[in-house]
This record gives sequence, C-alpha cells and structure tokens, in this order.
Amino acid sequence: MTAPNWRDNLQRRGGFWRHGRWYDLHLDRRMPLALPMLEELVAALPPLDADTAVCDLACGTGNAALTLLSAYPDVQLTLLDADEDLLATARDKIAEFEEDRALTVTTLAATMPTDGDPIPGGPYDVVLATLALHAIIGHDVDPGEAESRYELLLRGIGDSLTAGGHLLVGDHVGTLGLYRQLKAMDRAGFVDVDCAWRQDDFFVAGGRIPD
Ligand SMILES: C[S@@+](CC[C@H](N)C(=O)[O-])C[C@H]1O[C@@H](n2cnc3c(N)ncnc32)[C@H](O)[C@@H]1O
Repeated sequence: MTAPNWRDNLQRRGGFWRHGRWYDLHLDRRMPLALPMLEELVAALPPLDADTAVCDLACGTGNAALTLLSAYPDVQLTLLDADEDLLATARDKIAEFEEDRALTVTTLAATMPTDGDPIPGGPYDVVLATLALHAIIGHDVDPGEAESRYELLLRGIGDSLTAGGHLLVGDHVGTLGLYRQLKAMDRAGFVDVDCAWRQDDFFVAGGRIPD
C-alpha cells in the first residue's frame, strides 16, 4: 500500500490528524500547550469518587482519559469517539496503563449529535471535552454560526449530565473565542461557568448543571 504523501506534513495547516499514531507523535511538537492543558484540566476538577461516571467526549487517542486515570483510576470512564480506529488506539493505550489496576473503562463508538440531543451512553457526572468541541462543530464556521452551534451542542451536553454534574472543556480558541464559549455555556443552562487556566490560545473552562 502506498504511504500518504509526506508533503501533507509540510503544509501550514497540514498533517495526518486522523491517524492515531501520527497524532500522538505530533501533538506535543505541533501544540506544545496541549499536554499542559490536559494537566490543568484534571487539576481543575473537583475530587472524583470511585462511582463517578465520566465521559471523555471525542476522546481521540485517549490522552485526556489517561491523564484523568493517572489522577483518579477508580472512576467509571466512558471513552466516546466517532472514529473506531482512534478509539482502538485509546483502548490500547488504556490497556497498557491498566497493568494490575482494576479499571472500569467502556469504549463507545458513537457520534455526538450537534442538534441538541444528549451524549450517547449517558447520563454522566462529569464530561471532559479536550480539543473536542471545535472538532465537533467544524473548523471553518463563521463566528455567528459557531456561537449558535456551540449553544446547541452545549445544551445536549448539559442534558447528558446528572444534577450537579460538571463539564470541563480544554481547547484552543479559533472556531469561537473563549468569552463567547463561556457565554454559550451560560445560555445553555450551565452555572458556575468560569475559566481555570489560559495560556496563549489554549484554555481550560468549565461549568456545572444546577443541583
Ligand atoms: C482533535 S481530536 C481530539 C482528541 C482528544 N480529545 C484529545 O484531546 O487529543 C478530535 C476528535 O473528535 C472526534 N469527533 C469529531 N466529531 C465528532 C462527533 N460528532 N462525535 C464523536 N466524535 C467526534 C474525532 O474523531 C477526533 O477523535
């Protein structure tokens, strides 16, 4: 089989982001703030008990899941992604980490609806969305359109959460600015909406559903 053309690696916005191994090899090189963002996101969480149901939404190769499990290995974790190949990479990575730990991890090949419907497999107590919301919304969407799409998506996420449940978002701005994302969370029914960390274009933000 012919390999993809290496020149796709050399373009300004090029690369093979849908290829799990390539993604993991290049994430830190291309986005040096992505891994610190994951650490900041886990640090921003409240302490999670063993029976906490967590969804890593659009988990890709499972980097957020792994960072979470390093801190809270007892949670009941669902890895959800539309791409079965990336999900398999995530599953392998978690299996490597598992060793003799008794993890409760479910993988779910599913598409997150963008029409306001909830996340498949819920409800969840915590949803993590790292580099995920902009990917679900789509990259080249104009800001006005993006704002309403985010609100609808966030309503669906909110409806997937238990009372008092948290959404933690780690992302870079681009599709929609951070302030507008926070406002969209507010309009979608989240409370205690705030930003925990920001460096350059990367941020960690979150909110919760009222008790
Ligand atoms: C940039 S990757 C982020 C992966 C991972 N969360 C991380 O932090 O590295 C975006 C992911 O979103 C997934 N995705 C995009 N749209 C989706 C949808 N509607 N439902 C489920 N997954 C989706 C892609 O398959 C891809 O794995």
